[in-house]
Amino acid sequence: MRPIVKITANLKRIRSSNLHRRLSINTAKTDEIDMLSLTINQMLEHLEQSFDSQKSFVANASHELRTPITSILGEAEITLMKERDPETYKSALKEIVSSVERLNLIINSLMELMQTNLDNRDFQNVKVDELMWEIADELAGKSNGDQVRMGYHLPEDITKSVISGNRRLLFIAISNILKNAVKFSEGKTVDCEVRYIDKGIQITIRDQGIGIAKDDLIKIFQPFFRASNAMNFQGYGIGLSLTDNIVKLHNGTISINSVLEQGTTIVVFFPTA
Ligand SMILES: Nc1ncnc2c1ncn2[C@@H]1O[C@H](COP(=O)(O)OP(=O)(O)OP(=O)(O)O)[C@@H](O)[C@H]1O
Ligand SMILES: [Mg+2]
Repeated sequence: MRPIVKITANLKRIRSSNLHRRLSINTAKTDEIDMLSLTINQMLEHLEQSFDSQKSFVANASHELRTPITSILGEAEITLMKERDPETYKSALKEIVSSVERLNLIINSLMELMQTNLDNRDFQNVKVDELMWEIADELAGKSNGDQVRMGYHLPEDITKSVISGNRRLLFIAISNILKNAVKFSEGKTVDCEVRYIDKGIQITIRDQGIGIAKDDLIKIFQPFFRASNAMNFQGYGIGLSLTDNIVKLHNGTISINSVLEQGTTIVVFFPTA
């Protein structure tokens, strides 16, 4: 069979149900056709990975949504089984309200996550130092104001501290990191630094909190993942997956360094125009 016809025939057999299939490659003498097959195989690899992560996302999301729904149903059904006194009705309703609040939070975060998956690029010029200042300010209002220490190392040329982006999404991305730093370090100072480095802005957020175990580091960007040492803290494991999506949407990078019981440093880099 002619090589291109063979590739086409093989590709037609690949469906979402058998995405693990790959085109065969002659490794003995790699020619242009093999290079093409190799590229297609790499694309299939990406597709398979993204299918897998979608599947686990749906499974995790369903589980997270089902938990509060089950408790709402249970509470209501048990209360309705017989006549109760007003106090019992009141406490049942309170339970229900708190589960609905939880549901509401999860749904809102999921909606935000969906938005970051859409590629709707209504980008504008965002001054990073201003943005950081606003985020820290908002956070100070909610927690102990002294906890976040900001530092700026910006160039004279202010055009260099501007990135092209979606302000609201950037706000969410950075504030998730900062909120984690504050939350997981229980009152210890969080250092936040904005620095202009070659062709971009680097934001470093350093805390002295509980830290993240080495094996968990690669998982923390997965939706709903929470490390075992985080279970005593409020949260759903959605924040960082949102942040990761948003940073990617802005062609940025995010790196993380952490030592258990000592602290975590997250560095985000955004290229400037
Ligand atoms: N600064 C940090 N220090 C220690 N652990 C962290 C830190 N930031 C993130 N983590 C770990 O990564 C996990 C995922 O973070 P993420 O922000 O996605 O979830 P969350 O903060 O637990 O919940 P949510 O953001 O939905 O309120 C956390 O549960 C925690 O285990
Ligand atoms: Mg969080």
